Amino acid sequence: MALLRLPLLLALFCLVDTLVVAQYSAYDYGFNVNKRIKRQLDPRSTMVVQDKTGGDIHVRQEIRQIEQDRELWTLYILGLSMLQYTDQASPMSYYGLAGNENTGYCAHSSVLFPTWHRPYMALYEQALYELIQTIATFWPDDKRQRYESAARRFRLPYWDWAATPPSGESVLPTSIGGNSFIDVDGPNGFQRIANPLFSYSFNPLDKTVFRSDPWNVWTRTLRSPSSSGPDARSNNSLVAMNLDQNRASIAQRLYALFSSNNNYATFSNNAAEGPDDSVESLHDTIHSLVGGFGFNQPATQPGHMAYIQLSAFDPVFFLHHCMVDRILALWQAVHPNTWVPPSRARLNSYTTRRGQPIDSNTALTPFFSHDNGTFWTSDGIRDHTKFGYTYAELLPATSNNDTSQARASSTKQAVNRMYGSFSPASLFLKELRAQDAGLATSHKAPHHSLVQSKIFVVGGDGDNNGDRYHEWTASVRVSDQALDGASAVVFFLGGEIPADQQQQQQGWASAANYVGAMGVFTAAAGMAHDHDHDAPVSGSVPLTAALVDKVEKGELASLAPADVEPYLRANLRRVVLGCSGQVVGEPSSCLRGVVIRVVSSVVAAPWSDEELPRWGEATVGFEMC
Ligand SMILES: *[C@@H]1O[C@H](CO)[C@@H](O)[C@H](O)[C@H]1NC(C)=O
Ligand SMILES: *[C@@H]1O[C@H](CO)[C@@H](O)[C@H](O)[C@H]1NC(C)=O
Ligand SMILES: *[C@@H]1O[C@H](CO)[C@@H](O)[C@H](O)[C@H]1NC(C)=O
Repeated sequence: MALLRLPLLLALFCLVDTLVVAQYSAYDYGFNVNKRIKRQLDPRSTMVVQDKTGGDIHVRQEIRQIEQDRELWTLYILGLSMLQYTDQASPMSYYGLAGNENTGYCAHSSVLFPTWHRPYMALYEQALYELIQTIATFWPDDKRQRYESAARRFRLPYWDWAATPPSGESVLPTSIGGNSFIDVDGPNGFQRIANPLFSYSFNPLDKTVFRSDPWNVWTRTLRSPSSSGPDARSNNSLVAMNLDQNRASIAQRLYALFSSNNNYATFSNNAAEGPDDSVESLHDTIHSLVGGFGFNQPATQPGHMAYIQLSAFDPVFFLHHCMVDRILALWQAVHPNTWVPPSRARLNSYTTRRGQPIDSNTALTPFFSHDNGTFWTSDGIRDHTKFGYTYAELLPATSNNDTSQARASSTKQAVNRMYGSFSPASLFLKELRAQDAGLATSHKAPHHSLVQSKIFVVGGDGDNNGDRYHEWTASVRVSDQALDGASAVVFFLGGEIPADQQQQQQGWASAANYVGAMGVFTAAAGMAHDHDHDAPVSGSVPLTAALVDKVEKGELASLAPADVEPYLRANLRRVVLGCSGQVVGEPSSCLRGVVIRVVSSVVAAPWSDEELPRWGEATVGFEMC
């Protein structure tokens, strides 16, 4: 719990992008590669996402893991670089693939949000895979076999923005935000090339699509841009700091998604009116943290990742969405019996009108399953292994015991290990393990230490052995139109709201009393495809870890409502940031289009690490402005 305030790792990214990007380009193979990658160059190539049933299944690795896998990493970097330098006219170029998010097909605020992105990621994986198979053949005879065999194992990497980063490192891996160049030991020897994970350079920037400022002057993708001019630079150190300072919030949200949200309808998207958080809303917050959260320069604005139609041009998008797909796959393993329910489209997209019925058989356009014009559906992609990949946590423990129950148990164990550290549940499990292994089988809660007894105040026989605690959440509902484009709702606990000017320079998240934020992922105005995105969205900012911290410091008597409610009324503050990072309204005045409710649930701690906490009904404590 004391981990809540994480070290700032600015130094790591200090020199970011001070070098001129144009200096670096693609890898020089020593011959014209275009002749060898015909399919990628063909503007008529179709986008059939292949069903790979019966083929090999390989694991999608975390980016820091694949980086250790030297041959695979080299192939990945070379493949991604080549994809980015492929003619923009081809639908299988990076530009063409990224454009899918831009075309108006993408299903936001919809039960199809997680499932639509599954064939999308599979298509991107397929495009990279094909390039990588070709690249592997470029090595000389003595090495070719090794690279060809690594190439067949290639699956898309993901970026786990909720995991504890290795000691001394930021949540943002150096490979993504560290340098505008990267050194690769390719088939034509060692070369320094443009880092394809750092930025994507448009070649050329199509001003009929990117019509308005600053999109028509930014010739490459940017994160936390230094200005709105053509010479703007990314500030990845600010992005890294924002991610690190939000990790407690992000990890709590993810852990709660697995344990509190048992219903696909609310898990899937940010439209729900209730207090439920969703994978879409969590994903939205990552978009806004990476695009540029709070902005370090007045009069600038966030970069590409913060806008729906532009986000996929930033290469980090695909690492992020592969993580979203992994969350879906793990969540499915924990909740095998709930899936896309019949509902109605809330927003217009190219293929669905507002109000139109959608269900698990709705076509996930434009992702073809066959070249006769059939599209993938949510039912069709329910089993992700159809696309030839899986995630390490889902590998069967033993090959002949892969029942859905065994899979759910081992996935819960992984979720506890990876994302449980900020939850009181992990304290309970630790106490249980420390005191007596026999306690769990006799179902007798441990005798709590003094601090723990103030957290587990419910359940037990009243003799200081409760096994329940309260989770506290700020549940936020925002209508971005009412605010003329909100970018985030930011929370502080205890002390004053930091001064506006100063905080813009250093980043809101660097404040000592910062708790977390709900980022709003909006459509950029003035693009060729304006999105219809005026419906309110919901999300959560967890308060529990911050409150436990206050209990540990003796500033709060216990986690019980009688203590917490008055404490939060007096000490919880919020700032609403508008579309250009400005503070909207007075901090304590109510804003039209923003509803914030402080909600609590009684949660039963798990008795084994193969179980997750069980959440009771959510109760609204109070509403704040
Ligand atoms: C398209 O092809 C698939 C596989 O051959 C077949 O199952 C499906 O019925 C076909 N659909 C149409 C509309 O022809
Ligand atoms: C398979 O796993 C289930 C659930 O964990 C367990 O109950 C069962 O005993 C296991 N079966 C075998 C054959 O190991
Ligand atoms: C990046 O942002 C940090 C925090 O606001 C600031 O101190 C630093 O000067 C910025 N770096 C660049 C290169 O703009």
